[in-house]
Amino acid sequence: QSVPVIAIDGPSASGKGTVAQRVANELGFHYLDSGALYRLLATAAMRDGVALDDEVALAGLASRMDIVFKGEQIWLDGAPVGDELRGEACAAGASKVAALHQVRAALLAKQRDFRKAPGLVTDGRDMGSVVFPDATLKIFLTASAQIRAERRYKQLKEKGMDAKIADLLQDIRARDERDTQRSAAPLQQYPDASLLDTTTLDVDQAVKFVLNGYQCKA
Ligand code: C5P
Repeated sequence: QSVPVIAIDGPSASGKGTVAQRVANELGFHYLDSGALYRLLATAAMRDGVALDDEVALAGLASRMDIVFKGEQIWLDGAPVGDELRGEACAAGASKVAALHQVRAALLAKQRDFRKAPGLVTDGRDMGSVVFPDATLKIFLTASAQIRAERRYKQLKEKGMDAKIADLLQDIRARDERDTQRSAAPLQQYPDASLLDTTTLDVDQAVKFVLNGYQCKA
């Protein structure tokens, strides 16, 4: 029997990362934050002066990147990456490089390598549709744009970063637009995913929903 995968897809700042991480802890599974790979590529491109629309150069960079997850800390090419990975500039760059077909293809094998026993919980945009189409459980986790902007605001504040809710809301809407309208793996609720709308749910409730869903499938 193949290694179980729980795929949680959804728009930015929906809380899917927090939920996915908690579910992974509960089950003792590995966790892959696939958005981090696109964010790391944007970081590496800015570091190396590669234009964010140079598809061939970006795909090459994507396959060469040496990424190591050490708990909360991520290392890129032998050096730790700081909080800038979570910033809006990096997120915007990530959503630009993520629209390129060759970049997505270059990151496919890297993502599949994370599927290891006893299991994997992963979050992103196309985890259940493209990367792990045979995932054990597929969830589409979303929330209203306003609530997502408020959550992102709280998260940034806690990290000591400054932000305005109105700006965050604008960024989130722009990113939603780009992520849903692109031709390469557009963000969408695919038919075999269960919808989890967290607009009025807290993290505990969302985690419970996913764990129950997994127990029914496992
Ligand atoms: O999830 P996160 O906000 O970290 O993702 C950053 C960007 O990376 C998203 O806006 C999206 O464009 C892209 N992404 C993607 N496919 C994934 C994960 C992230 O296209 N599986």
